[in-house]
Amino acid sequence: MGSVTWGSGSAVPERRAPGAPPRGPPLLSPAPARPYGADMCGIVGYVGAQSAQDVVVAGLKRLEYRGYDSAGVAVLADGGLAAARKAGKLLNLEKELKDRPLPGGNTGIGHTRWATHGGPTDANAHPHLDNAGRVAVVHNGIIENFAGLREELAGRGHDLTSETDTEVVAHLLAEAYSSSGDPAEAMRQVCRQLEGAFTLVAVHADEPDVVVGARRNSPLVVGVGEGEMFLASDVAAFIAHTRDAIELGQDQVVELRRDGVTVTGFDGRPADVREYHVDWDASAAEKGGYASFMLKEIADQPKAVADTLLGRIDGSGALHLDEVRIPPSVLREVDKVVVVACGTAFHAGMIAKYAIEHWTRLPCETELASEFRYRDPILDQRTLVVAISQSGETMDTLMAVRHAREQGAKVLAICNTNGSTIPRESDAVLYTHAGPEVAVASTKAFLTQLVACYLVALYLGQVRGTKWGDEIRTVVRQLSEMSGAVERVLGTMEPVRELARSLASHDTVLFVGRHVGYPVAMEGALKLKELAYMHAEGFAAGELKHGPIALIDEGLPVVVIAPSPRGRSVLHDKIVSNIQEIRARGARTVVIAEEGDEEVVPYADHLIRIPATPTLLQPLVATVPLQVFACELATARGNEVDQPRNLAKSVTVE
Ligand code: AGP
Repeated sequence: MGSVTWGSGSAVPERRAPGAPPRGPPLLSPAPARPYGADMCGIVGYVGAQSAQDVVVAGLKRLEYRGYDSAGVAVLADGGLAAARKAGKLLNLEKELKDRPLPGGNTGIGHTRWATHGGPTDANAHPHLDNAGRVAVVHNGIIENFAGLREELAGRGHDLTSETDTEVVAHLLAEAYSSSGDPAEAMRQVCRQLEGAFTLVAVHADEPDVVVGARRNSPLVVGVGEGEMFLASDVAAFIAHTRDAIELGQDQVVELRRDGVTVTGFDGRPADVREYHVDWDASAAEKGGYASFMLKEIADQPKAVADTLLGRIDGSGALHLDEVRIPPSVLREVDKVVVVACGTAFHAGMIAKYAIEHWTRLPCETELASEFRYRDPILDQRTLVVAISQSGETMDTLMAVRHAREQGAKVLAICNTNGSTIPRESDAVLYTHAGPEVAVASTKAFLTQLVACYLVALYLGQVRGTKWGDEIRTVVRQLSEMSGAVERVLGTMEPVRELARSLASHDTVLFVGRHVGYPVAMEGALKLKELAYMHAEGFAAGELKHGPIALIDEGLPVVVIAPSPRGRSVLHDKIVSNIQEIRARGARTVVIAEEGDEEVVPYADHLIRIPATPTLLQPLVATVPLQVFACELATARGNEVDQPRNLAKSVTVE
């Protein structure tokens, strides 16, 4: 379906979307605080004297770096509302508009979608409209109570035709407007009914000079022009027109008219806002003011970790992994788990092994996807293969998935890209909600892969009865606190950046760790290899004495990830011995240790503190300093960190 003009009530009926996916058995856990929304889509709104279609589409192009799988625009004109939306890249929408231009209008909204609920199709593309075609809305986030709202709307005769959570908002706004006659009040009424993360922008055909918006979690910024106003996910969309901006705060509703902006809380009371002047250039604006996408994505990690839990723990505290559509009866028959992945995703799989074996008592192997099918692995219908891939297009991993399914194994994908090939060819999928990851070096995708792996392990434990509900509740509560822990680590990185700059002239750095710190060491080494183009290697610390310790030379930097002294303290004693061994041979020791660990202090030339965390969750905080270290050292060496030499974001060849 391409460009469609909704006049007064002639909405085009669309294929009825299938019902909501079956829910897995509930797992009990307290609903965590949700500090962040899913910042995955691009939003633009405009009211003024220019062509709304031109301004909105140009704004969406400035948000192109966010990646997306569909785009759409709606314009108010001639007393009605016209909209066009297309799956695929923005180019598809632009072609649509060239072939079938919308009526000229000066008020409009637009959206580029990074799918979370519902595949990347025309029907699921935003804007979404009510049945009368008088209201259009675009959304960034996840509405957690949309299923119940959808049922209530259907019960009141509304015909919802997409698979998205967003569509319920269009119908609710139509109802609220018909009773209040005020678009901003209608938005406030609707926001008070929603749960989850929602940043919304909407228009109503009866209000041709008004754009309304609301913010909960994902950012929303007003651009203040001369006789025109803009609304967008970030300033990149409108700084070609104005650099005067107003950032909306949490739980605020904004009403835009050509000559004015009104901001209230969801309760209707006047709200305080932050006005500022944007001094970034357009390119910097796309990166949110950061020097690189990688730095932006490192900073996005608290939000990405929280988002990956979002929508899976509902208001009653139940944990739902809706997309895991392998029946519990089949999962109870599984007698082996095999994780297949490449690169950074492989390191996530190494950590998944510890969690899966500890929480489910199932044997778990972690395999490099590129080696997997050539070693003639033993697989059958009782094997669960977990394929981890940010892009969902890595050929090595895809071929491993195909081989596993040919052997009768069930495949669960953990993926960050909705509708990509690997999830499509798997039996089930658990999407991470990291949002688009533009930098080649994977950072936020890695942390969200870890969260997804923990969720899968907990789910298996619940289904197989090896973890009781209260035990799972404890772990999920700890997981819910990790977003804040990552935030705290990010606030203490200046010494790490100074250290990185001081080591820029070195040509080798070693990384060692024990238990889940070993895969973290591997990941730290990979980051340094791919960004600084220097020799870096990760080892299990216990392996040093079996050969690698011969590498230790005077002043050689060795990064040590120390386990918690509280959990598996025997491991901590051994890592302290390892640090002493390498230091005695001249190594320059960089020790990552949790707050309160005083035993390592005498042997650390550089000490990097991380928050105390449960043993299995430590990689979520221990990895962050290594990402910052590699990025800063590469920058000090003059390297381009977003697109390192010889590398591609998605390796679609074997
Ligand atoms: C990691 O920083 C690299 N970008 C690379 O190792 C990557 O993790 C690997 O190619 C797997 O990609 P995928 O997660 O998209 O499958």
